[in-house]
Amino acid sequence: MKEIFKCPVCGDVLTKNGNTLKCEKRHSYDISSSGYVNLAMQQSGKTHGDDTFMVMARRDFLSCGYYEPLRTAVCETVSGEVVLDAGCGEGYYTNKIAESENVKRIYGIDISKKAVTYASKLCKGEKFGTFCVGSVYSMPYKDGAFDAIVNIFSPLALDEYKRVLKNGGTLVLAVPNPDHLLELKKAVYDDVHIKEESDDILDGFTLCEKKRVCYKFTPKTSKTTSDLFAMTPYYYTTPAEKREKLLSIEPFEITADFSVITYKYST
Ligand SMILES: C[S@@+](CC[C@H](N)C(=O)[O-])C[C@H]1O[C@@H](n2cnc3c(N)ncnc32)[C@H](O)[C@@H]1O
Ligand SMILES: [Zn+2]
Repeated sequence: MKEIFKCPVCGDVLTKNGNTLKCEKRHSYDISSSGYVNLAMQQSGKTHGDDTFMVMARRDFLSCGYYEPLRTAVCETVSGEVVLDAGCGEGYYTNKIAESENVKRIYGIDISKKAVTYASKLCKGEKFGTFCVGSVYSMPYKDGAFDAIVNIFSPLALDEYKRVLKNGGTLVLAVPNPDHLLELKKAVYDDVHIKEESDDILDGFTLCEKKRVCYKFTPKTSKTTSDLFAMTPYYYTTPAEKREKLLSIEPFEITADFSVITYKYST
């Protein structure tokens, strides 16, 4: 199997030797016991991604199966021999995408070491490439390494996607629609501002398909509702007493409303 990693220091190709990836200039990176390699460049002030609390909340929530319809839609959409899950989190989607017959090999990258540790423990088998701690804004992969990239609620690094995608490759995005989690927001905030739907135009990509996945579910416990809120981008900007309110109210019905959008990249 061809190695697709490049050295984050000098940019040379990295070759696997036992449990180490090395370049010709002898920069070397060990593969951890759980199976990931850390190729993140240390940059002070830059994000370290999701912390332990957020990772655990997401793992607990996703394990209940409420986002299974989204995962199924993503798996039916992603197609390509070599796939990257960019911002893979704990590998909930990565693991299932690997079951698709069209996918021969899948890699995952995330800036959160905690998330990648879980992903590399979950995703075992010959279809998985080495998981990697690294930033999607400066990815340690060779140009044109991937046939497809999937991004599920993760930062959108379009310039890097274009660099690591093959000409004719696909980008699959899962994005929330304006009504997504509306009841949850109403339970936390007095005033809820409903966002407008985005125009879905991405520079350099052609939109090929948009599938809507919309349904309602009721979390089994207040803790599950609270875990779901901890997965949202506004969790940390919400005052503690508002966040904690969710733990004291009975579970209620919540709307899940996503779009799975497929784009084609051609130079
Ligand atoms: C909302 S979570 C989604 C995780 C996963 N795709 C899922 O849906 O279960 C966003 C993920 O992006 C990661 N992330 C944030 N900034 C990043 C960056 N610059 N490079 C790579 N990953 C990043 C976070 O650590 C987190 O795991
Ligand atoms: Zn090097």
